[in-house]
Amino acid sequence: MQGRSASAPSQIVTIDGVAASGKSSVSSGVARALGIPYLSSGLLYRAATLLALEDDADLNDEPAVLAALKTHPIRLEPLAEGNRVWQGTRDLTDDLHSTRVDHGVSVVAVLPGVRAWVNEQLRQVPPPFVAEGRDMGTNVFPHSAAKFYLTASPRVRAQRRAQERPEDVDAIEAALIRRDDLDRVQSAPAKDAHVIDTGPLDLDGVIQAILKRVMKD
Ligand code: DC
Repeated sequence: MQGRSASAPSQIVTIDGVAASGKSSVSSGVARALGIPYLSSGLLYRAATLLALEDDADLNDEPAVLAALKTHPIRLEPLAEGNRVWQGTRDLTDDLHSTRVDHGVSVVAVLPGVRAWVNEQLRQVPPPFVAEGRDMGTNVFPHSAAKFYLTASPRVRAQRRAQERPEDVDAIEAALIRRDDLDRVQSAPAKDAHVIDTGPLDLDGVIQAILKRVMKD
């Protein structure tokens, strides 16, 4: 259990946003500053995708994907410095950002049964925490009083991601635009979310903007 700072919110902070908008780093930074855990819902969708791929399931076949989840129960470890996902004693985390998982996860994330499975895992965690994803403020924790939504242009996001992966910026940008399109339905800002364009800000600038609001609310 981590030490909680005197100024930590007693409830739930939601941080949603488009792919590669910096949600994970921002959520981790906000959670560390507040001394509370953060939950990465995207990692759970990625874990579902990896388990289905490893079971040779057709990713459009909902019963087959759900069967893979049932056969291989996983556990999210919500560390503020970076979430980890375990399948028994196997740490899946490093395998969750492979290109094949990147390509498959949008298909798996539209399956209603998988969304229900992810939401159930998240709702089992006692607050306070920072919850990060696409629909934390709209669907999963609609009663959160502190909602944020991060955006940035596809070019800016592709340039950031190119620093992490040995891929061409144009190819990353094209893939991000395709993913934005696939994620559009579940990735809309909540009406009461504070929308932050992260383009002109560095990581610390985004974290400070959120902390300022959380402390004020
Ligand atoms: O945030 P990320 O890139 O790790 O998310 C991986 C995928 O999961 C992405 O295609 C969007 C989807 N996702 C979702 O549909 N709902 C969430 N709450 C989080 C992620």
